[in-house]
Amino acid sequence: MLASNAVSELRARLEAWRRQGRRIVFVPTMGNLHLGHMALVRRARALGERVVVSVFVNPTQFAPGEDYATYPRTLEADRRQLEQAGVDLLFAPEVNSIYPQAVSVDSSYPVPEVGRDLEEAFRPGFFAGVVTVVRRLFDLVQPDVAVFGEKDYQQLTVIRAMVRDLALPIDIASVATVREADGLALSSRNRYLSAPERLRAPLLYRTLKQVAASAQAGEAAPAELEAAAMTELRTGTFVPDYVSLRDADTLQPLRATARNGVVLAAARLGRARLIDNVIF
Ligand code: PAJ
Repeated sequence: MLASNAVSELRARLEAWRRQGRRIVFVPTMGNLHLGHMALVRRARALGERVVVSVFVNPTQFAPGEDYATYPRTLEADRRQLEQAGVDLLFAPEVNSIYPQAVSVDSSYPVPEVGRDLEEAFRPGFFAGVVTVVRRLFDLVQPDVAVFGEKDYQQLTVIRAMVRDLALPIDIASVATVREADGLALSSRNRYLSAPERLRAPLLYRTLKQVAASAQAGEAAPAELEAAAMTELRTGTFVPDYVSLRDADTLQPLRATARNGVVLAAARLGRARLIDNVIF
């Protein structure tokens, strides 16, 4: 595996692979890799002949006061895991390779409609940062396929919309959320949970599964189910930002009973802000 922070090295390697007609699959990450990321890597290997993984903690998707400075950076451990998983190239650029002019968002492509509420309401500017960095990484890597996790469902939907809007010749593949045995979705931010909080954390997924089942069965209106779930989470000492039933493709509010839905939530538990979703 080649590990590099240099765009020139990335370019040279990619060019050689393209000349050989290799299908290039790309997995963007912020590092501190866990089994969720590694499931994306496994899928990537199945989808093409060469796998590129980026590790880059993107400053423009963190708001002032969020955890940019303290976000866990574990490049050497990440490198070892990726090497073992058969990744061909690890690209871990410096900030000035991604943002040569200024560390700011690219306003030439506005955040698509699906990125304008939910997370955006609580983390303003988040998707502008994500769209900017993913577009830049796509420019540099020019993959045939890119792989994203369903864990960040709204992000996945925003990326699909961007690829469609800009007519980028990239297939977007998605991978189901990888969870701990008790249902908690794996996340680098789970480390912010204290031991007692960690024991309470699976309530989020349990609640979302209930909401999904009730919505599917048409037991109550979406707004009622959402409100009941917020109450349930508060009882479990979460501070929920939102619980929202949406159409799984458009992320428009779900009207009545529906199929093809998703329930998305974000909630704080102690210092951690957890996000999760259940598709139905
Ligand atoms: P990061 O949080 O490192 O996640 C990288 C990829 O791993 C994302 O596609 C995310 O959805 C996926 N992922 C994380 N936890 C997962 C889990 N438990 N199961 C399955 N997939 C999981 O998301 C980002 O980085 C950044 O926003 C990025 C897209 C790299 C842009 O900076």
